[in-house]
Amino acid sequence: MLDHGASPQNPPTPAPASPGVAARLMRRKPVERLIAEGGQGEGGTLRRSLGLWQLTMISIGATLGTGIFVVLGQAVPKAGPAVTLSFVIAGVTALFSALSYAELAGTIPVSGSSYSYAYATMGELIAWVCGWCLLLEYGVSVAAVAVGWGEYLNELLDGTLGVTLPAALANPPGVDGGVFNLPALIVILLAMVFLLGGAKESARANTVMVCVKIAALVLFCAIGFMGFKSGNYAHFMPLGMDGVSAAAATLFFSYIGFDAASTAGEEAKDAQRDLPRAIMLSLVIVTALYVLVAAVAVGARPWRTFADSEAALAQIMTDVTGQSFWGTLLAFCAVIAIASVVLTVLYGQTRILFAMSRDGLVPKVFARVHPKTGAPRANTVIVALFCGVLAAAIPLGQLADATSIGTLFAFALVNVAVVVLRRTRPAMRRSFRVPLGWLLPVLGFVCCAWMMFSLSAVTWAVFGVWMAVGLVFYFLYGYRRSRLATDDPLAATAEK
Ligand code: ALA
Repeated sequence: MLDHGASPQNPPTPAPASPGVAARLMRRKPVERLIAEGGQGEGGTLRRSLGLWQLTMISIGATLGTGIFVVLGQAVPKAGPAVTLSFVIAGVTALFSALSYAELAGTIPVSGSSYSYAYATMGELIAWVCGWCLLLEYGVSVAAVAVGWGEYLNELLDGTLGVTLPAALANPPGVDGGVFNLPALIVILLAMVFLLGGAKESARANTVMVCVKIAALVLFCAIGFMGFKSGNYAHFMPLGMDGVSAAAATLFFSYIGFDAASTAGEEAKDAQRDLPRAIMLSLVIVTALYVLVAAVAVGARPWRTFADSEAALAQIMTDVTGQSFWGTLLAFCAVIAIASVVLTVLYGQTRILFAMSRDGLVPKVFARVHPKTGAPRANTVIVALFCGVLAAAIPLGQLADATSIGTLFAFALVNVAVVVLRRTRPAMRRSFRVPLGWLLPVLGFVCCAWMMFSLSAVTWAVFGVWMAVGLVFYFLYGYRRSRLATDDPLAATAEK
């Protein structure tokens, strides 16, 4: 058809060509648009109610849990007393990525965390891949943590009341006569109830739980120190540097979660100022606690004996005091500590899906906000039910291991995103800047890649399948429904 207004002097304007597939996959979301859309959901907005204190507590809440209460016991036999060094090494690895998170959270303070940073810098496909990895870091790991919570609860009930849940209700099908893991489902549903009340209420509950777990670890240090024997340090590194680095890789898990504050960007009162501070502060506090607790633990108990006990910290409390009350108290605090990981990680997952939904990459229901509480209620219920059923009915096995690889992949992308944004938007205002130019983000990337490659072939295979499923979902759904494409297909292809 000819344009009716066309004439030889006035040639018709050519219809805009639709962008090619590659251009569409690489379309980036302008930073300004990401920020301008902050808080807006379907039918309401998220509330800005969180200050620095609550944000820091969210990150500590998501970080401090199974790692120190359970995984420490598995790491000591690998490294001996040098497990303290392993915590430092894992902490430094986390620090590089935490610095990158801090810079981006202060520059792009939205709820999608690394998914949104990738969208602004590396394009939609990478952003999707990142968001899909976050589903492993948050959604699948919350299910794994809930399973660990159930085990701890069972031990506590056994130790205090002499009651144990029947195996059928304490394990998923196919594991030790299990049918349904009830405790894992219950802790997730409890977290859901808090989250439905709104971010402020959840943050308040989390703050109480975080205070309990910090107090418990400080108490452990005080009591454990009374049983400190310098002879336990006689062979500091009995299994050499190999053992120390193997333990560091195991302990990296205990640092996962410091990025949780970056999922609260749209509910923070002053996100640009407070998010970087909360991320860094939480990492410093958590690292200090880890090193202290590990130092006291291996001082109070010969390192070889850690292999025989699951709840090593509680055992040390009992041994040093000679009273089982203290061990039981610590086990009780561990139950609360791990519950706060479930609460904050579930919170993070809902906010990431909220951001992805607003962008059209997952269904709209995830961005629906309740007008009264300012909470994405439908999103919270769907995520909680999904994670609850996953925890209760599926033996997580290798999928749980795959959470580490997904997390490391997301961290690696954040380090790349810092470098890309420095190149594409050098003059942009940054409330926090990683020092020493590109050096630390590059080191962060290398550390994440190194840790990923040290994971087993099976874990990689599971990760590959997970990614393939994610890509199929993207091409069937998000690719066509992306708001960036439907709103303005050409302007969205690249941001200068
Ligand atoms: N870092 C979290 C924990 O240790 C996942 O439980």
